[in-house]
Amino acid sequence: MEHVLITGGSRGIGANTAIECARRGFGVILTWNIKPEAASQVVERIQADGGRALALQLNVEEISSFSQFRSDLENAMESHWEARGLHGLVNNAGYGLYNPIETVTETQFDSLMNVHLKGPFFLTQTLLPLLQQSAAIVNLTSATTRVATAGVAPYATFKGGLEVLTRYMAKEFAGRGIRVNAVSPGPVRTELGGGLSDEFAALLAGQTALGRVGEPDDVARVIAGLLSADSGWINAQTIEVAGGYNI
Ligand SMILES: NC(=O)c1ccc[n+]([C@@H]2O[C@H](COP(=O)([O-])OP(=O)(O)OC[C@H]3O[C@@H](n4cnc5c(N)ncnc54)[C@H](OP(=O)(O)O)[C@@H]3O)[C@@H](O)[C@H]2O)c1
Repeated sequence: MEHVLITGGSRGIGANTAIECARRGFGVILTWNIKPEAASQVVERIQADGGRALALQLNVEEISSFSQFRSDLENAMESHWEARGLHGLVNNAGYGLYNPIETVTETQFDSLMNVHLKGPFFLTQTLLPLLQQSAAIVNLTSATTRVATAGVAPYATFKGGLEVLTRYMAKEFAGRGIRVNAVSPGPVRTELGGGLSDEFAALLAGQTALGRVGEPDDVARVIAGLLSADSGWINAQTIEVAGGYNI
């Protein structure tokens, strides 16, 4: 069995990605930051369906914790499943913050940078030795990199950086056959940034060709597909998954 690691796999897009990956036959390691009970529910659901899953704590802002996380990951995979190595890494964990440029603090800026750019950079670097030949990495970015959305400038800027980093990772890891792509969701109904009110969701649906906002499964299926052999010739791309948002 091949194994994939999904950061922020306890809720929202990450949770549905974990469930979808397990459904497709991957063993799943998912991480949570502050809500272990949400992670346990995802693990229990996967196990109830006959899949393989375990959850580990990880704060992607704490770069200094990554080498310990790698040891914990290796130990957990070995002790639970006698497994080594990863077929996939999904850099999904993150949070949103609404604050116009005029009032963004340096602390907010640095935290968003750590979660959405520096964390994925150094987590990928740390886990690179565990990635197998022909592994796949998926980085979660955002349609806000294409559609300027007032109030989310630092978030969108770091997601834009992650799209550039995606191409550089694809270039530098190609020697090992590792594919790296970004998935860029439009608005999705999750708890990100406090969640979408019905009123805001209706507004966003009106800006979407297919006439609704996204659901976590809309994105999860694409991520799981990119990890699979069917996507073996897709590399270094940013794929917007947004139903035609602001086209
Ligand atoms: N929802 C959207 O409309 C949308 C659109 C475009 C892009 N995205 C991107 O998609 C990804 C998933 O978003 P989502 O909507 O599924 O969010 P969500 O429902 O709020 O879930 C966020 C997940 O990330 C984890 N997390 C948050 N901060 C973390 C940190 N510092 N370290 C480690 N884990 C952390 C959370 O764990 P805990 O519960 O333990 O805190 C949770 O598992 C994010 O990168 C987001 O930017 C979302």
